[in-house]
Amino acid sequence: MNQAWAIENLLGVNNGELEVCGISTTKLADEFGTPLFVFSEERIRENLSELKRSEDRIGSKLKICYAAKANSVMAILRTVRDAGADLEVNSGGELYKALKIGFKPDQIIFNGTSKTERELEEAITAGIYAIQADSVFEIELAERVAKRIGMRANISLRLVPEIKSETLSGLQTALLTSKFGMMPDEALAAFRRWKPDDPNLNLCGIHLHIGSQNPSSEPYAEALTKLFKNLLEINETTGHRLSHLNLGGGFPVNYLRDRSHAGDFSPEKREMLSAELEPAKVLEKAWDAMAIVAENLDAQHLIDGIELLIEPGRSVISDAGICLTTVRNKKERPIEQLRNSDANPDKKSQKDTWLLTDAGFNILLSMETYKWYYHLISASRAALPHKTEYKLAGPLCDGGDVYFDIEGEGRLPDHRKLPENVEVGEVLALLNCGAYSLAQMSQYNGRQLPAVVLIREDGEIELIRERDKYEDLHSNDIF
Ligand SMILES: Cc1ncc(COP(=O)(O)O)c(C=O)c1O
Repeated sequence: MNQAWAIENLLGVNNGELEVCGISTTKLADEFGTPLFVFSEERIRENLSELKRSEDRIGSKLKICYAAKANSVMAILRTVRDAGADLEVNSGGELYKALKIGFKPDQIIFNGTSKTERELEEAITAGIYAIQADSVFEIELAERVAKRIGMRANISLRLVPEIKSETLSGLQTALLTSKFGMMPDEALAAFRRWKPDDPNLNLCGIHLHIGSQNPSSEPYAEALTKLFKNLLEINETTGHRLSHLNLGGGFPVNYLRDRSHAGDFSPEKREMLSAELEPAKVLEKAWDAMAIVAENLDAQHLIDGIELLIEPGRSVISDAGICLTTVRNKKERPIEQLRNSDANPDKKSQKDTWLLTDAGFNILLSMETYKWYYHLISASRAALPHKTEYKLAGPLCDGGDVYFDIEGEGRLPDHRKLPENVEVGEVLALLNCGAYSLAQMSQYNGRQLPAVVLIREDGEIELIRERDKYEDLHSNDIF
Protein backbone atom coordinates (compact mmCIF):
# COMPACT_ATOMS: atom_id res chain seq x y z
CA MET A 1 0.00 0.00 0.00
CA ASN A 2 2.11 2.93 -1.26
CA GLN A 3 -0.46 5.64 -1.67
CA ALA A 4 -0.69 7.87 1.36
CA TRP A 5 -4.44 8.22 0.93
CA ALA A 6 -5.01 4.44 0.96
CA ILE A 7 -6.98 2.92 3.84
CA GLU A 8 -6.89 -0.80 4.46
CA ASN A 9 -10.05 -2.63 3.35
CA LEU A 10 -11.48 0.64 2.07
CA LEU A 11 -9.41 2.52 -0.50
CA GLY A 12 -6.66 0.84 -2.46
CA VAL A 13 -5.19 0.23 -5.88
CA ASN A 14 -5.61 -2.83 -8.04
CA ASN A 15 -4.46 -3.11 -11.66
CA GLY A 16 -3.49 0.52 -11.42
CA GLU A 17 -7.04 1.57 -10.59
CA LEU A 18 -8.70 2.92 -7.50
CA GLU A 19 -10.85 0.38 -5.70
CA VAL A 20 -13.38 0.92 -2.93
CA CYS A 21 -13.82 -2.20 -0.78
CA GLY A 22 -12.27 -4.23 -3.58
CA ILE A 23 -14.65 -2.87 -6.25
CA SER A 24 -13.23 -1.11 -9.31
CA THR A 25 -14.26 2.53 -9.32
CA THR A 26 -14.04 2.84 -13.12
CA LYS A 27 -16.48 -0.05 -13.44
CA LEU A 28 -18.80 1.71 -11.02
CA ALA A 29 -18.49 4.90 -13.07
CA ASP A 30 -19.25 2.94 -16.27
CA GLU A 31 -22.27 1.25 -14.75
CA PHE A 32 -23.84 4.14 -12.86
CA GLY A 33 -22.40 7.21 -14.58
CA THR A 34 -20.84 10.21 -12.83
CA PRO A 35 -20.92 12.17 -10.67
CA LEU A 36 -21.37 9.18 -8.41
CA PHE A 37 -21.03 8.87 -4.65
CA VAL A 38 -19.74 5.53 -3.38
CA PHE A 39 -20.05 4.52 0.27
CA SER A 40 -18.69 1.65 2.31
CA GLU A 41 -21.09 0.03 4.76
CA GLU A 42 -18.18 -1.60 6.57
CA ARG A 43 -16.44 1.72 7.12
CA ILE A 44 -19.56 3.33 8.57
CA ARG A 45 -19.89 0.45 11.01
CA GLU A 46 -16.21 0.60 11.90
CA ASN A 47 -16.37 4.32 12.54
CA LEU A 48 -19.35 3.84 14.82
CA SER A 49 -17.78 1.00 16.74
CA GLU A 50 -14.62 3.05 17.18
CA LEU A 51 -16.78 5.64 18.95
CA LYS A 52 -18.62 3.01 20.96
CA ARG A 53 -15.30 1.69 22.31
CA SER A 54 -15.14 4.55 24.76
CA GLU A 55 -18.22 3.32 26.59
CA ASP A 56 -16.21 0.64 28.38
CA ARG A 57 -13.52 3.13 29.24
CA ILE A 58 -15.77 5.73 30.77
CA GLY A 59 -17.99 3.19 32.46
CA SER A 60 -21.14 5.16 31.77
CA LYS A 61 -23.79 4.64 29.11
CA LEU A 62 -22.74 6.34 25.89
CA LYS A 63 -25.55 7.28 23.51
CA ILE A 64 -24.18 7.88 20.02
CA CYS A 65 -26.62 10.07 18.14
CA TYR A 66 -25.32 10.21 14.56
CA ALA A 67 -25.84 13.74 13.22
CA ALA A 68 -28.25 13.17 10.34
CA LYS A 69 -27.36 16.52 8.86
CA ALA A 70 -24.00 15.13 7.75
CA ASN A 71 -25.72 12.70 5.40
CA SER A 72 -29.31 11.50 5.60
CA VAL A 73 -29.67 9.36 2.50
CA MET A 74 -32.17 6.75 3.72
CA ALA A 75 -29.90 3.72 3.29
CA ILE A 76 -27.14 5.55 5.17
CA LEU A 77 -29.60 6.12 8.04
CA ARG A 78 -30.55 2.44 7.79
CA THR A 79 -26.87 1.46 8.07
CA VAL A 80 -26.45 3.66 11.14
CA ARG A 81 -29.61 2.19 12.69
CA ASP A 82 -28.50 -1.39 11.95
CA ALA A 83 -25.15 -0.62 13.56
CA GLY A 84 -27.05 0.12 16.77
CA ALA A 85 -26.53 3.88 16.89
CA ASP A 86 -29.12 6.55 17.64
CA LEU A 87 -29.84 9.76 15.75
CA GLU A 88 -29.72 13.53 16.02
CA VAL A 89 -32.14 15.38 13.73
CA ASN A 90 -32.53 19.04 12.97
CA SER A 91 -35.94 19.46 11.44
CA GLY A 92 -39.34 17.91 11.05
CA GLY A 93 -38.06 16.54 7.75
CA GLU A 94 -35.16 14.70 9.34
CA LEU A 95 -37.45 13.48 12.13
CA TYR A 96 -39.83 12.13 9.50
CA LYS A 97 -36.98 10.32 7.73
CA ALA A 98 -35.69 8.93 11.03
CA LEU A 99 -39.05 7.47 12.02
CA LYS A 100 -39.68 6.19 8.51
CA ILE A 101 -36.41 4.25 8.42
CA GLY A 102 -37.27 2.70 11.77
CA PHE A 103 -35.49 4.61 14.52
CA LYS A 104 -37.50 4.29 17.73
CA PRO A 105 -38.55 7.61 19.28
CA ASP A 106 -36.28 7.12 22.28
CA GLN A 107 -33.35 6.87 19.87
CA ILE A 108 -33.92 10.39 18.54
CA ILE A 109 -32.87 13.83 19.71
CA PHE A 110 -33.99 17.01 17.96
CA ASN A 111 -31.69 20.01 17.60
CA GLY A 112 -31.98 23.24 15.65
CA THR A 113 -32.55 26.93 16.15
CA SER A 114 -35.94 27.64 14.63
CA LYS A 115 -38.36 24.85 15.39
CA THR A 116 -41.95 25.42 14.42
CA GLU A 117 -44.98 24.48 16.52
CA ARG A 118 -45.72 21.76 14.04
CA GLU A 119 -42.23 20.29 14.38
CA LEU A 120 -42.44 20.44 18.16
CA GLU A 121 -45.82 18.75 18.09
CA GLU A 122 -44.45 15.97 15.90
CA ALA A 123 -41.48 15.45 18.22
CA ILE A 124 -43.56 15.54 21.42
CA THR A 125 -46.24 13.28 20.00
CA ALA A 126 -43.63 10.76 18.91
CA GLY A 127 -42.14 10.90 22.44
CA ILE A 128 -38.53 11.38 21.40
CA TYR A 129 -35.61 11.15 23.84
CA ALA A 130 -35.01 14.91 23.95
CA ILE A 131 -35.84 18.13 22.19
CA GLN A 132 -32.82 20.40 22.52
CA ALA A 133 -34.23 23.80 23.20
CA ASP A 134 -32.26 26.62 21.64
CA SER A 135 -33.76 29.46 23.70
CA VAL A 136 -36.12 30.21 26.56
CA PHE A 137 -38.68 31.16 23.93
CA GLU A 138 -38.43 27.67 22.49
CA ILE A 139 -39.02 26.07 25.90
CA GLU A 140 -42.16 28.18 26.26
CA LEU A 141 -43.27 27.12 22.81
CA ALA A 142 -42.71 23.46 23.65
CA GLU A 143 -44.70 23.94 26.87
CA ARG A 144 -47.59 25.48 24.95
CA VAL A 145 -47.64 22.62 22.46
CA ALA A 146 -47.29 19.94 25.15
CA LYS A 147 -50.16 21.48 27.16
CA ARG A 148 -52.37 21.66 24.08
CA ILE A 149 -51.87 18.01 23.21
CA GLY A 150 -51.80 16.85 26.84
CA MET A 151 -48.30 15.38 26.83
CA ARG A 152 -44.99 15.85 28.60
CA ALA A 153 -42.00 16.85 26.49
CA ASN A 154 -38.41 15.80 27.22
CA ILE A 155 -36.28 18.91 26.96
CA SER A 156 -32.54 19.39 26.99
CA LEU A 157 -31.14 22.93 27.03
CA ARG A 158 -28.46 23.95 24.56
CA LEU A 159 -25.76 26.11 26.14
CA VAL A 160 -23.13 28.43 24.69
CA PRO A 161 -20.58 28.42 27.51
CA GLU A 162 -17.83 30.29 25.59
CA ILE A 163 -15.63 27.41 24.53
CA LYS A 164 -13.23 28.11 21.72
CA SER A 165 -11.89 25.52 19.33
CA GLU A 166 -9.20 25.80 16.66
CA THR A 167 -11.54 25.08 13.78
CA LEU A 168 -12.86 27.53 11.15
CA SER A 169 -14.77 30.41 12.67
CA GLY A 170 -17.92 29.48 10.76
CA LEU A 171 -17.80 26.05 12.37
CA GLN A 172 -17.48 27.26 15.98
CA THR A 173 -20.74 26.94 17.80
CA ALA A 174 -20.17 27.25 21.54
CA LEU A 175 -19.40 30.97 21.55
CA LEU A 176 -21.75 33.82 22.32
CA THR A 177 -20.96 35.19 18.87
CA SER A 178 -22.54 32.09 17.29
CA LYS A 179 -26.25 31.93 16.63
CA PHE A 180 -26.84 28.90 18.82
CA GLY A 181 -28.15 28.13 22.25
CA MET A 182 -28.60 30.08 25.47
CA MET A 183 -26.28 31.49 28.12
CA PRO A 184 -25.77 29.33 31.22
CA ASP A 185 -27.56 31.84 33.48
CA GLU A 186 -30.61 31.81 31.19
CA ALA A 187 -30.60 28.02 31.42
CA LEU A 188 -30.37 28.16 35.20
CA ALA A 189 -33.34 30.51 35.31
CA ALA A 190 -35.28 28.09 33.12
CA PHE A 191 -34.54 25.21 35.50
CA ARG A 192 -35.81 27.40 38.35
CA ARG A 193 -38.95 28.24 36.43
CA TRP A 194 -39.92 24.74 35.31
CA LYS A 195 -39.84 22.44 38.35
CA PRO A 196 -38.87 18.75 38.25
CA ASP A 197 -42.53 17.75 38.58
CA ASP A 198 -43.78 20.06 35.82
CA PRO A 199 -46.70 18.29 34.11
CA ASN A 200 -45.73 19.34 30.59
CA LEU A 201 -41.98 19.66 30.56
CA ASN A 202 -39.33 17.23 31.68
CA LEU A 203 -36.09 19.24 31.71
CA CYS A 204 -33.74 16.29 31.62
CA GLY A 205 -30.40 17.38 30.17
CA ILE A 206 -28.02 20.02 28.97
CA HIS A 207 -26.22 20.15 25.68
CA LEU A 208 -23.48 21.91 23.80
CA HIS A 209 -21.62 21.46 20.54
CA ILE A 210 -18.25 23.13 20.29
CA GLY A 211 -18.07 22.99 16.51
CA SER A 212 -17.03 20.76 13.67
CA GLN A 213 -13.55 19.37 12.83
CA ASN A 214 -11.97 20.28 16.18
CA PRO A 215 -8.27 19.53 15.97
CA SER A 216 -7.56 19.11 19.68
CA SER A 217 -9.08 17.25 22.58
CA GLU A 218 -8.78 19.99 25.22
CA PRO A 219 -12.00 21.82 24.29
CA TYR A 220 -13.91 18.57 24.84
CA ALA A 221 -12.51 18.20 28.35
CA GLU A 222 -13.27 21.85 29.05
CA ALA A 223 -16.76 21.44 27.62
CA LEU A 224 -17.69 18.37 29.63
CA THR A 225 -16.30 19.89 32.79
CA LYS A 226 -18.35 23.03 32.18
CA LEU A 227 -21.44 20.95 31.50
CA PHE A 228 -20.89 19.18 34.78
CA LYS A 229 -20.49 22.44 36.70
CA ASN A 230 -23.75 23.64 35.21
CA LEU A 231 -25.41 20.37 36.14
CA LEU A 232 -24.18 20.75 39.70
CA GLU A 233 -25.38 24.33 40.03
CA ILE A 234 -28.73 23.38 38.52
CA ASN A 235 -29.05 20.53 40.99
CA GLU A 236 -28.06 22.59 44.00
CA THR A 237 -30.24 25.56 43.23
CA THR A 238 -33.30 23.94 41.67
CA GLY A 239 -33.31 20.28 42.70
CA HIS A 240 -33.34 19.03 39.12
CA ARG A 241 -31.41 15.77 38.72
CA LEU A 242 -30.34 15.62 35.06
CA SER A 243 -30.31 12.27 33.31
CA HIS A 244 -27.94 13.18 30.50
CA LEU A 245 -25.13 15.44 29.37
CA ASN A 246 -24.76 15.99 25.63
CA LEU A 247 -21.28 16.83 24.38
CA GLY A 248 -22.24 17.32 20.71
CA GLY A 249 -20.14 16.22 17.75
CA GLY A 250 -17.18 17.64 15.89
CA PHE A 251 -14.59 14.84 16.03
CA PRO A 252 -12.18 15.51 13.19
CA VAL A 253 -11.26 13.55 10.07
CA ASN A 254 -7.83 13.67 8.44
CA TYR A 255 -8.40 15.25 5.04
CA LEU A 256 -4.64 15.42 4.39
CA ARG A 257 -3.62 11.77 4.64
CA ASP A 258 -1.88 12.47 1.37
CA ARG A 259 0.39 15.41 2.18
CA SER A 260 1.13 16.46 -1.40
CA HIS A 261 -0.90 19.64 -0.96
CA ALA A 262 -0.22 20.14 2.74
CA GLY A 263 2.24 22.95 2.04
CA ASP A 264 -0.47 24.94 0.27
CA PHE A 265 -2.28 25.73 3.52
CA SER A 266 -1.58 28.08 6.39
CA PRO A 267 -0.21 26.21 9.43
CA GLU A 268 -3.55 26.60 11.27
CA LYS A 269 -5.65 25.29 8.41
CA ARG A 270 -3.17 22.48 7.79
CA GLU A 271 -3.40 21.42 11.42
CA MET A 272 -7.17 21.61 11.35
CA LEU A 273 -7.50 19.60 8.11
CA SER A 274 -5.06 16.91 9.16
CA ALA A 275 -6.26 16.46 12.73
CA GLU A 276 -6.22 12.87 13.92
CA LEU A 277 -7.93 12.42 17.24
CA GLU A 278 -9.13 9.09 18.48
CA PRO A 279 -12.67 9.91 19.59
CA ALA A 280 -12.58 7.18 22.21
CA LYS A 281 -9.50 8.76 23.78
CA VAL A 282 -10.99 12.26 23.54
CA LEU A 283 -14.06 11.08 25.40
CA GLU A 284 -12.08 9.19 27.96
CA LYS A 285 -9.93 12.24 28.69
CA ALA A 286 -12.97 14.49 28.88
CA TRP A 287 -14.75 12.07 31.18
CA ASP A 288 -11.71 11.76 33.45
CA ALA A 289 -11.36 15.55 33.65
CA MET A 290 -15.01 15.83 34.61
CA ALA A 291 -14.82 12.98 37.13
CA ILE A 292 -11.92 14.65 38.93
CA VAL A 293 -13.92 17.86 39.26
CA ALA A 294 -16.95 15.90 40.44
CA GLU A 295 -14.89 14.13 43.05
CA ASN A 296 -13.25 17.34 44.27
CA LEU A 297 -16.67 18.90 44.65
CA ASP A 298 -17.98 15.80 46.36
CA ALA A 299 -20.66 15.44 43.71
CA GLN A 300 -19.71 12.10 42.15
CA HIS A 301 -23.22 10.80 42.85
CA LEU A 302 -24.63 13.24 40.27
CA ILE A 303 -22.85 11.49 37.43
CA ASP A 304 -23.50 7.98 38.63
CA GLY A 305 -25.84 6.44 36.09
CA ILE A 306 -25.86 9.52 33.92
CA GLU A 307 -25.93 9.07 30.13
CA LEU A 308 -23.32 10.77 27.99
CA LEU A 309 -24.64 11.74 24.57
CA ILE A 310 -22.50 12.58 21.56
CA GLU A 311 -23.57 13.71 18.10
CA PRO A 312 -20.86 12.72 15.61
CA GLY A 313 -21.49 13.32 11.92
CA ARG A 314 -18.29 13.88 9.98
CA SER A 315 -16.30 11.23 11.86
CA VAL A 316 -18.90 8.58 11.01
CA ILE A 317 -19.52 9.25 7.36
CA SER A 318 -16.80 11.43 5.84
CA ASP A 319 -14.14 8.87 4.99
CA ALA A 320 -16.77 6.23 4.20
CA GLY A 321 -17.68 8.06 0.98
CA ILE A 322 -15.95 9.22 -2.18
CA CYS A 323 -17.21 11.10 -5.20
CA LEU A 324 -16.35 9.88 -8.69
CA THR A 325 -16.31 12.55 -11.36
CA THR A 326 -15.41 12.57 -15.06
CA VAL A 327 -13.31 15.16 -16.87
CA ARG A 328 -15.72 16.68 -19.38
CA ASN A 329 -13.64 19.46 -20.88
CA LYS A 330 -10.02 20.51 -21.12
CA LYS A 331 -8.37 23.76 -22.15
CA GLU A 332 -5.17 25.68 -21.86
CA ARG A 333 -4.76 29.21 -20.58
CA PRO A 334 -1.77 31.45 -19.99
CA ILE A 335 -0.70 31.23 -16.37
CA GLU A 336 -2.81 33.88 -14.69
CA GLN A 337 -0.18 35.88 -12.81
CA LEU A 338 1.92 36.25 -15.95
CA ARG A 339 -0.87 37.11 -18.34
CA ASN A 340 -0.21 40.82 -18.34
CA SER A 341 3.40 40.77 -17.32
CA ASP A 342 6.19 41.87 -19.62
CA ALA A 343 8.80 41.15 -16.98
CA ASN A 344 9.71 37.72 -18.18
CA PRO A 345 8.70 37.19 -21.80
CA ASP A 346 9.94 33.58 -21.75
CA LYS A 347 7.42 32.72 -19.12
CA LYS A 348 4.61 34.22 -21.14
CA SER A 349 4.38 31.02 -23.10
CA GLN A 350 3.67 28.97 -19.94
CA LYS A 351 0.19 27.62 -19.78
CA ASP A 352 -2.19 26.20 -17.20
CA THR A 353 -4.09 23.12 -18.22
CA TRP A 354 -7.67 23.37 -17.05
CA LEU A 355 -9.82 20.31 -16.40
CA LEU A 356 -13.57 20.82 -16.13
CA THR A 357 -15.29 17.98 -14.27
CA ASP A 358 -18.93 17.06 -13.71
CA ALA A 359 -18.69 17.59 -9.91
CA GLY A 360 -19.26 21.18 -8.87
CA PHE A 361 -20.41 23.01 -5.80
CA ASN A 362 -23.93 21.85 -6.53
CA ILE A 363 -22.82 18.57 -4.89
CA LEU A 364 -19.81 19.75 -2.84
CA LEU A 365 -21.06 23.04 -1.50
CA SER A 366 -18.54 23.30 1.31
CA MET A 367 -15.75 23.52 -1.27
CA GLU A 368 -17.27 26.93 -1.98
CA THR A 369 -18.68 28.02 1.39
CA TYR A 370 -15.83 26.89 3.66
CA LYS A 371 -13.19 26.37 0.97
CA TRP A 372 -13.14 22.78 2.19
CA TYR A 373 -10.40 20.55 0.83
CA TYR A 374 -11.14 17.16 -0.72
CA HIS A 375 -8.10 15.31 -1.97
CA LEU A 376 -8.33 14.54 -5.69
CA ILE A 377 -6.79 11.56 -7.48
CA SER A 378 -7.16 9.81 -10.78
CA ALA A 379 -9.39 6.77 -10.35
CA SER A 380 -8.32 5.07 -13.55
CA ARG A 381 -4.60 5.78 -13.07
CA ALA A 382 -4.41 5.79 -9.29
CA ALA A 383 -1.05 4.02 -9.19
CA LEU A 384 0.81 6.58 -11.31
CA PRO A 385 2.73 9.48 -9.81
CA HIS A 386 0.48 12.48 -9.27
CA LYS A 387 2.90 15.27 -10.02
CA THR A 388 1.45 17.26 -12.90
CA GLU A 389 -0.40 20.41 -11.95
CA TYR A 390 -3.82 21.30 -13.33
CA LYS A 391 -6.40 23.95 -12.65
CA LEU A 392 -9.65 22.23 -11.71
CA ALA A 393 -13.21 23.47 -11.95
CA GLY A 394 -16.72 22.08 -11.89
CA PRO A 395 -19.42 22.19 -14.53
CA LEU A 396 -21.58 25.05 -13.30
CA CYS A 397 -22.15 28.24 -15.21
CA ASP A 398 -20.86 30.15 -12.19
CA GLY A 399 -17.36 31.57 -11.90
CA GLY A 400 -17.16 30.48 -8.27
CA ASP A 401 -17.42 26.81 -9.22
CA VAL A 402 -13.69 26.07 -9.03
CA TYR A 403 -11.52 23.79 -6.91
CA PHE A 404 -9.20 26.64 -5.88
CA ASP A 405 -9.66 29.87 -3.97
CA ILE A 406 -10.85 32.31 -6.58
CA GLU A 407 -10.32 35.23 -4.19
CA GLY A 408 -6.60 34.37 -4.16
CA GLU A 409 -6.52 34.16 -0.38
CA GLY A 410 -4.80 30.79 -0.43
CA ARG A 411 -7.55 28.89 1.35
CA LEU A 412 -7.35 26.10 -1.23
CA PRO A 413 -4.44 24.94 -3.41
CA ASP A 414 -4.23 26.83 -6.71
CA HIS A 415 -3.57 23.64 -8.66
CA ARG A 416 -4.27 19.97 -8.15
CA LYS A 417 -1.73 17.23 -8.82
CA LEU A 418 -2.70 14.38 -11.12
CA PRO A 419 -0.87 12.07 -13.53
CA GLU A 420 0.48 13.50 -16.82
CA ASN A 421 -1.81 13.92 -19.79
CA VAL A 422 -5.20 13.73 -18.16
CA GLU A 423 -7.71 13.68 -21.00
CA VAL A 424 -11.43 14.26 -21.30
CA GLY A 425 -13.21 11.11 -20.16
CA GLU A 426 -10.78 10.23 -17.37
CA VAL A 427 -12.50 9.36 -14.10
CA LEU A 428 -11.21 11.16 -11.02
CA ALA A 429 -12.06 10.63 -7.38
CA LEU A 430 -12.56 13.16 -4.61
CA LEU A 431 -11.87 11.47 -1.28
CA ASN A 432 -13.47 11.94 2.13
CA CYS A 433 -16.65 13.30 0.62
CA GLY A 434 -19.25 11.46 2.65
CA ALA A 435 -20.20 14.31 5.00
CA TYR A 436 -21.93 17.59 4.19
CA SER A 437 -21.98 16.89 0.46
CA LEU A 438 -25.14 15.02 -0.57
CA ALA A 439 -26.86 16.67 2.38
CA GLN A 440 -26.29 20.10 0.82
CA MET A 441 -26.70 19.33 -2.85
CA SER A 442 -28.86 21.39 -5.15
CA GLN A 443 -30.22 21.31 -8.66
CA TYR A 444 -28.52 24.61 -9.47
CA ASN A 445 -28.05 25.00 -13.24
CA GLY A 446 -30.63 22.29 -13.81
CA ARG A 447 -28.17 19.64 -12.78
CA GLN A 448 -29.63 16.31 -11.79
CA LEU A 449 -28.85 15.20 -8.26
CA PRO A 450 -26.35 12.33 -8.41
CA ALA A 451 -26.70 8.61 -7.93
CA VAL A 452 -25.29 6.95 -4.80
CA VAL A 453 -24.13 3.39 -4.29
CA LEU A 454 -23.37 1.54 -1.08
CA ILE A 455 -20.88 -1.32 -1.07
CA ARG A 456 -22.39 -3.76 1.40
CA GLU A 457 -20.23 -5.77 3.75
CA ASP A 458 -20.77 -8.89 1.64
CA GLY A 459 -19.50 -7.03 -1.46
CA GLU A 460 -22.94 -6.45 -2.98
CA ILE A 461 -23.25 -3.13 -4.79
CA GLU A 462 -26.51 -1.51 -3.79
CA LEU A 463 -27.86 1.51 -5.64
CA ILE A 464 -29.20 3.59 -2.75
CA ARG A 465 -30.12 6.73 -4.65
CA GLU A 466 -31.08 6.98 -8.28
CA ARG A 467 -29.77 9.82 -10.35
CA ASP A 468 -32.50 12.44 -10.78
CA LYS A 469 -34.37 12.33 -14.02
CA TYR A 470 -35.04 15.50 -16.00
CA GLU A 471 -38.63 15.47 -14.73
CA ASP A 472 -37.34 15.65 -11.14
CA LEU A 473 -36.04 19.09 -11.97
CA HIS A 474 -39.58 20.47 -11.99
CA SER A 475 -41.35 17.99 -9.73
CA ASN A 476 -42.82 20.65 -7.45
CA ASP A 477 -43.19 23.47 -9.93
CA ILE A 478 -46.76 24.43 -10.78
CA PHE A 479 -47.01 25.42 -14.43
C1 LIG B 1 -25.51 20.54 17.11
C2 LIG B 1 -24.62 19.74 16.26
N1 LIG B 1 -24.34 18.48 16.61
C3 LIG B 1 -23.54 17.70 15.88
C4 LIG B 1 -22.99 18.17 14.70
C5 LIG B 1 -22.12 17.25 13.92
O1 LIG B 1 -20.81 17.71 13.81
P1 LIG B 1 -19.72 16.84 13.12
O2 LIG B 1 -20.24 16.41 11.80
O3 LIG B 1 -18.53 17.72 12.98
O4 LIG B 1 -19.46 15.68 14.00
C6 LIG B 1 -23.24 19.46 14.28
C7 LIG B 1 -22.65 19.97 13.05
O5 LIG B 1 -22.26 21.07 12.89
C8 LIG B 1 -24.09 20.27 15.08
O6 LIG B 1 -24.39 21.52 14.73
